[in-house]
Amino acid sequence: MTMRTNIPMLAVALLAHWLPAAQAQDAVKGRAVYQAVCIACHAPENVMVSAPKAGDVKEWARRAGTDAAGLRQLTDHAVEGFGAMPPKGGRADLTRAQIQDAIEFMRQAPNKG
Ligand code: HEC
Repeated sequence: MTMRTNIPMLAVALLAHWLPAAQAQDAVKGRAVYQAVCIACHAPENVMVSAPKAGDVKEWARRAGTDAAGLRQLTDHAVEGFGAMPPKGGRADLTRAQIQDAIEFMRQAPNKG
């Protein structure tokens, strides 16, 4: 009798566990893209360029919130170009997935990267 109610609970618990892990994986891949390309303008110490900085959680949230829809919007902008941001950061060979991974990395707090 209790098994019936516990199975959906278990599924929810497993899903909740799996989602952040998948996001963390994306951020690990994104770090490599960031370090190869985006860092030129998005490094925290770069005061010459008005790009949102890696690890500046507040600025990224101000631009597009912190949810999946916001991530999609940021990815669209980064792929197509946005203001002084060149399409794909000037690297046409990057895939949309790589761009998104780099954004996931950049909008995390630095101590999680
Ligand atoms: C040549 C400098 C430069 C490079 C390289 C660069 N960016 Fe940017 N990026 C900018 C600037 C400047 C802005 C701010 C644009 C604005 O708000 O007008 C920006 C903004 C963004 C935004 C915010 C868009 C929004 O909707 O507010 C994202 C996302 C982004 N960049 C992702 C990336 C990624 C991912 C890479 C690496 C693949 C990258 N950028 C490489 C200069 C750069």
